[in-house]
Amino acid sequence: MKKILLIATAFSIAAGAPLLAMASPSGDLQAFRSYFQKRFPNVKMADFKDGIYSIDTARRDAWLEFEDFAPAYEDGVALGKELFNKPFKNGKTYASCFENNGIGIRQNYPRFDAKSGKIVTLEGAINKCRIDNGEEKLGWKKGKIAAISAYMSFTSRGNKVDIKVPNDPRALAIYERGKRHFYAKRGQLNFSCADCHVYQSGNMARGNLLSPAIGHITHFPVWRKKWAKKSEAKGKRGPTRGFGTIQRRYGGCNKQVRAKPFKAQKDEYNALEYFHTYMSNGLEVNGPALRQ
Ligand code: HEC
Repeated sequence: MKKILLIATAFSIAAGAPLLAMASPSGDLQAFRSYFQKRFPNVKMADFKDGIYSIDTARRDAWLEFEDFAPAYEDGVALGKELFNKPFKNGKTYASCFENNGIGIRQNYPRFDAKSGKIVTLEGAINKCRIDNGEEKLGWKKGKIAAISAYMSFTSRGNKVDIKVPNDPRALAIYERGKRHFYAKRGQLNFSCADCHVYQSGNMARGNLLSPAIGHITHFPVWRKKWAKKSEAKGKRGPTRGFGTIQRRYGGCNKQVRAKPFKAQKDEYNALEYFHTYMSNGLEVNGPALRQ
């Protein structure tokens, strides 16, 4: 299996060129979708929302059993709902900060904010809401913020990812930055996100089946057994113990190639999340979901 990873580098230089050459976001998206459709001709486009479980039947069956029967994230979503509805000290709630009172809106994040010229992620908007209402910021990658975000995703299940890249040079520049991060080789192992999740998707890497990048973000935040175990080892058993946001995952994947992770919710990962989420446009939100 290690061999596969080694040849990936050389292979992706050749295969990467056509995807990188596309100029516009909508052209990129079209190329991305048709690449995965050709790579996995038996998978329906709509099913890519399920990550590795869209491409492997045996793993899918085992996963569906857990998803259908009292999934581990249920208590975390319940806590997220409670936190979402609990008034701040000034009497207002999160609902006051969001369109449609924050219900069923996951598919619109991250979005470009023309006023600040920056990307607003869902977690970023949650913390901004707190600050605007005189509350302390929450930690970015897990715990309460992930529970609130998981609840908001839960209320958005079935809505289709609908990220907009407006015709504004600042938005396009951020999109391009995210795209560069996705295709750039990094770390001591010299791998790009695309090496593992585009060109080697469906192959094995150190015992792991590599998921296709299309549909990657629809089910976040996720509840990972690995993260739950890590929390439990530290004596944490609360309902959020397995949760992590998409940017927590980015950090883990950067570390896998021995690259230093970037700070969560700063420009680099926000740009990556913008590009990465755009590439799942049209797929259904189905977060949170269980993962290994
Ligand atoms: C060396 C290979 C490798 C590289 C490089 C890599 N990943 Fe991963 N990634 C994995 C493995 C293994 C998993 C767990 C199995 C899976 O779902 O693909 C994973 C999982 C993920 C998941 C979770 C998928 C899900 O359905 O829960 C996301 C999202 C992700 N990676 C994004 C990225 C991004 C973005 C980058 C670049 C910053 C990246 N990865 C780089 C190997 C890699």
